[in-house]
Amino acid sequence: MTATTTSKAPDTRGLAGQTVGETSICSVNQTQLIYRGYEIADLAEHASFEEVAFLLLEGHKPSAEELGRFKREVEAERAIPDGLKTLLRELATKAPKTHPMSVLRTGISYLSHFDPETEDNAPAAELRKSKRLLAKIPTIIGYGQMTLDGKTPVEPDPSLGHAANLLWCMTGKEPSELDARVMDVSLILYAEHDFNASTFACRVIASTESDMHSAVCGGIGALKGPLHGGANEMAMQMLKDIDRDTARSGESVEAWMTKAFAEKRKLMGFGHRVYKNGDHRAGILRSWGLKIAEKQGPQAKKWFDLGDTVQAIMLRDKKIHPNVDFPCGMTYFVMGIPVPQYTPIFVASRITGWCAHIMEQHANNRIIRPLAEYAGPALSSWNA
Ligand SMILES: CC(C)(COP(=O)(O)OP(=O)(O)OC[C@H]1O[C@@H](n2cnc3c(N)ncnc32)[C@H](O)[C@@H]1OP(=O)(O)O)[C@@H](O)C(=O)NCCC(=O)NCCS
Repeated sequence: MTATTTSKAPDTRGLAGQTVGETSICSVNQTQLIYRGYEIADLAEHASFEEVAFLLLEGHKPSAEELGRFKREVEAERAIPDGLKTLLRELATKAPKTHPMSVLRTGISYLSHFDPETEDNAPAAELRKSKRLLAKIPTIIGYGQMTLDGKTPVEPDPSLGHAANLLWCMTGKEPSELDARVMDVSLILYAEHDFNASTFACRVIASTESDMHSAVCGGIGALKGPLHGGANEMAMQMLKDIDRDTARSGESVEAWMTKAFAEKRKLMGFGHRVYKNGDHRAGILRSWGLKIAEKQGPQAKKWFDLGDTVQAIMLRDKKIHPNVDFPCGMTYFVMGIPVPQYTPIFVASRITGWCAHIMEQHANNRIIRPLAEYAGPALSSWNA
């Protein structure tokens, strides 16, 4: 008798396992995450976000002179038009429940009407637009948050780097050195990730020879979803739910998770399409976030302890590792950042990767237009 083997066809929905193009910006594999030849742990330890932004946008590691020039160019573009401030105030007062990602998408769309080079897809114009977008996004996020908080928004501070200025714009307080560094590291980790959903959305839009602002608006729409960038907010929300539910009912974290598994719930901040043995970024961000929590004391540290428990149960029972959004949620939470701003902060970083990909797409373009397998009804006659 011969043994028969039944092999299940791989599930290729969502383009799983498909290579759909080439890029020289980033390499993502099981063991490494590399931005233009530099490994992520090396960048997180030794580079600043501005250096990484230069690397992604201009294509090589900057010299000291190039970095100085880049910083001056970006700092000079941080202000946003008065009309956009009026719009942000109107959204905060008349639609305060609008998600800040939608506010940011509207803000970028507004800017497109006033950028002198919106319709110019030439490489030099696209590089200038990338820097303008990079510079203005923290100002939009900060203006929106300060207005929502009923505070007078502050102007960007030219003496601060991208990460510290972002925190300044959101709070009107100069951040501590540690908070600024942790934010800087999180921005480095979030900057680029090859053909993830939002970057691919940007490339699809760019491939029609549409403009950079339109592609970025599409990227923001894709990143907002909880299966993608929105997971950092949902991960923290889940920890808050576990903390509240276990305190109320006296049940254990283990019992809470067993119930979640039985209900086939997806636990946010876990799993990854590419990384099956863990996300290289997660451990790096956890260790930086923990530094802040330990400095603040037990009330902050408890979130990391809870996170560790959830992570251990997930790995034991489901063999699923956390992705970068899991420690990000806890880290931004102990920094006092409002949860709905976690994904907009992701944009303040990923704008560099998106713009690099939009430029790469335009430099060697062919419209992205795959085929579909038809699974609808058989042909019939309209007048039959
Ligand atoms: C990231 C994500 C969208 C990847 O999706 P994917 O590649 O289609 O997922 P996989 O093929 O690896 O899933 C394999 C199995 O693990 C399960 N799984 C994956 N992530 C899970 C999670 N976070 N919680 C519970 N189960 C999960 C899937 O349901 C699937 O189970 P099944 O085979 O019984 O259907 C998915 O892991 C997810 O939804 N995670 C939560 C959202 C998140 O953190 N997103 C940020 C990504 S950086």
